[in-house]
Amino acid sequence: VLAAACGAGALLAAPFRPARAEGRPPGAPAEPRPGRTVDLVLDAAERPQALPCFAGKPLPLWTFSADTALPIVRLGLGDRLRTRLVNGLTRPGEHLAIHWHGLRVPIAQDGVPYISQRPVEPGGTCDYDFVPPDTGSFFFHTHCNTVEQLGRGLAGLLIVEGDETEPYDGELVLAVRDWRIGEDGGFLPFLTDTGAGNAGSFGTVRSTNGEAAARFEVPAGADVRIRLYNVDPTRILEVGVEGAEAAVVAIDGHAVVPFPLATWRMGTAMRIDLVLRTPADGASVRLIDWRVAEPWTIATLVARGAPKRRGAFDPAPLRASRVPEPDLRGAETLRFEFASTAAAAAVAATDERFPGIDDLCLSDRTFWSINKTTWPADGHHALPPPLAVLRRGATYVFELSNISKQFHPIHFHGFAWRFLSSDRQELPPHLADTVLLVPREKRRVAFVADAPGDWMFHCHLIEHQETGMMGYVRVV
Ligand code: C2O
Ligand code: CU
Repeated sequence: VLAAACGAGALLAAPFRPARAEGRPPGAPAEPRPGRTVDLVLDAAERPQALPCFAGKPLPLWTFSADTALPIVRLGLGDRLRTRLVNGLTRPGEHLAIHWHGLRVPIAQDGVPYISQRPVEPGGTCDYDFVPPDTGSFFFHTHCNTVEQLGRGLAGLLIVEGDETEPYDGELVLAVRDWRIGEDGGFLPFLTDTGAGNAGSFGTVRSTNGEAAARFEVPAGADVRIRLYNVDPTRILEVGVEGAEAAVVAIDGHAVVPFPLATWRMGTAMRIDLVLRTPADGASVRLIDWRVAEPWTIATLVARGAPKRRGAFDPAPLRASRVPEPDLRGAETLRFEFASTAAAAAVAATDERFPGIDDLCLSDRTFWSINKTTWPADGHHALPPPLAVLRRGATYVFELSNISKQFHPIHFHGFAWRFLSSDRQELPPHLADTVLLVPREKRRVAFVADAPGDWMFHCHLIEHQETGMMGYVRVV
């Protein structure tokens, strides 16, 4: 039913099509319970392994753990996470840092080489120590040569629990991504000029949790939570569910008033939490990506057992976010234009905070810009000036204009944006750290600039990020 009207190619279609009245509002925010410390070692190394989705010869993956290709870290709200990053990569100059995507951590923990820390060279280590302030579905990845590091698998998921108002009957974590594997069974180039200058270089082998045809058993007649992650460097998904009623309960980890899922467009790095009412024993549900000519099955869920719930599907909301509420009265509006470099001019580098380091680790190609400026691809000796300087504690409205022909999933570190308006998409009220701008969209978002620092602001289509569409905003 839901497929026909909203498949691939409907560029300006609204992903949000409420079919019935909205659900119950989110519950009161969870209270952090301090006291527990979780120690995590992220031991980055090349570990050849055969992924289930590619049962050929082992791939030279880069992973954070010898035990699993994609670690999943689970914390409670209030837990302190102490992480030691070990760079066990051996290629000279292949440095690392960990960015905690979507987590509102202090700037010193933000993990951006040259901005908030020195890069960690092969053989080096680095420690992170923070208490995540929000519940939700987050992840972590490196922030330098990300196109290759993420392309080879270097990422992990981070879940902060404690946001359920009533427990659901089950939970699945699904991480969707492609692998760029060539005919010879090795990796294809992660960055290509044609890809970077257009919609990106797509993977050739698709996977969910590393499997080509992910399949799970779930309780029958039950409300099952799905934490769905798009961890691909490139591909935008248009997610739908067949065989069950489904509602979106969180976007980028932050609770929304549950609304029925028709399809939802997920750019790279975006997450949604869904609740499904599973069918009777033996029946199955499919999560589908409709954005491709041949719709792709993200996962098949097979229901088992006696039904757990009877009444109509009315999924319990999650707990509200603790993100401060923007005060729009008198808020300043700042405008940002995302464009190809046809419109951009080079900007002189002015800032050198880690002297002696002379590589800002990006591609030497420049295709994309923000406000006519590009992340420096030339010289790599020093940082460009910030795109804007904000007053700490003030509310800002960002007007994000995509004046290019491509989609851009725009990400902001350190904050969550409250959605205000879009002239191209009908979207429900929500908070997000990554927003997918469709071609020619103008979107307005607001946030309280409550944390000082230099916060990265970039396209999360990694080839766009690495070919210019990146900058930072300073909060003083
Ligand atoms: Cu997930 Cu600066 O990115
Ligand atoms: Cu982009």
